[in-house]
Amino acid sequence: MGSRIYVTGMAGFLGSHLAEALLAAGHTVRGCDNLLGGEPANVPPGAELDLLDCADVAGMKAATAGTDVLFHCAATAYEGLSVFSPAFVCQNVFQASVATFTAAIDNGVRRIVLCSSMARYGAGAPPFREDTPAAPVDPYGVAKLAAEDVLRTLSRLHGFEYTIAVPHNIYGPRQRYDDPYRNVAAIMANRLLQGLPAIVYGDGRQRRCFTYVDDAVVCLVRMATSARVVGEVVNIGPDDEFVEVRQLAEMLGELTGCREPPLRHAPRPGEVHAANCDADKARRLLGFEPRTPLRAGLARLVEHIRARGPRPFRYDLPIEIDTPALPDTWRHRLI
Ligand SMILES: NC(=O)c1ccc[n+]([C@@H]2O[C@H](COP(=O)([O-])OP(=O)(O)OC[C@H]3O[C@@H](n4cnc5c(N)ncnc54)[C@H](O)[C@@H]3O)[C@@H](O)[C@H]2O)c1
Repeated sequence: MGSRIYVTGMAGFLGSHLAEALLAAGHTVRGCDNLLGGEPANVPPGAELDLLDCADVAGMKAATAGTDVLFHCAATAYEGLSVFSPAFVCQNVFQASVATFTAAIDNGVRRIVLCSSMARYGAGAPPFREDTPAAPVDPYGVAKLAAEDVLRTLSRLHGFEYTIAVPHNIYGPRQRYDDPYRNVAAIMANRLLQGLPAIVYGDGRQRRCFTYVDDAVVCLVRMATSARVVGEVVNIGPDDEFVEVRQLAEMLGELTGCREPPLRHAPRPGEVHAANCDADKARRLLGFEPRTPLRAGLARLVEHIRARGPRPFRYDLPIEIDTPALPDTWRHRLI
């Protein structure tokens, strides 16, 4: 028999795909979102959406009553922006997480799966393994790691199971593409489909690994029930198909039929040359097996943006610290 599963951030990218896969696996799915990033059109039929902020403990207690497994996906996942808007990011990454755990634990939840981030590892040498000491270097990473620590601490006393997923660079349909602060592939595709050149920072030789959403979600679904991941941190992302950011721009140029040379910009503060995880543990514990080649996944992303229509970029998030370090692309709204 399926479990009753609650997914926070369900109108977002990962949350909506996860809800869909959990429904397909026979679970009952309910979830919430405050629509800071997501949109109701993303929520799959059959899942019940509460319009609710995770920081609202009373609201979350009412919403998560009877929940067996909680997936906490809600976040303002803005690593680059977090050094300029730390209060905003920490509110929705740390405070909202603690409130969500509080509500679910009070309701006797059996398991909590927390979506953390590769930002937890900080600036050390990749590939990051789960036993690499966590040393975040920006407020987003600090807030994610602090949320993990609170979860561990509460689990020790209250006895529920927890597991921590560390997805990285996931992409695919339903990802917000009118957001100038994150999601490099979606930003590039949205610009190209509007006839604008893709933007790359520096020489564009930064190397990245991307995970197609379906390949990541298979692992997340297993995290709802697998006994092998209790108390574990597990990276979810490929470690074998690297691409330089400028090659990504070229690939998307081909897929959109717009072959304008990319615009180049000075590197942003904190821009890292290479960042990727080691996925051995996910292979071992969750049978992780990426099946979607990058070009095929990007084609589906482009198809999705074409279907919804390219959109102007929305600069609707607060910039709390405005110093000369703020990148020109954001200050002058160049994206
Ligand atoms: N997509 C990735 O590559 C990636 C990589 C690493 C980690 N993650 C983590 O996975 C999770 C999902 O990321 P995503 O890419 O789907 O982002 P997303 O922005 O598409 O989804 C997050 C959702 O959370 C909602 N939200 C934000 N603050 C909220 C709050 N206080 N209360 C209720 N809802 C709130 C947003 O409206 C949004 O719909 C996040 O925790 C993120 O940190 C994602």
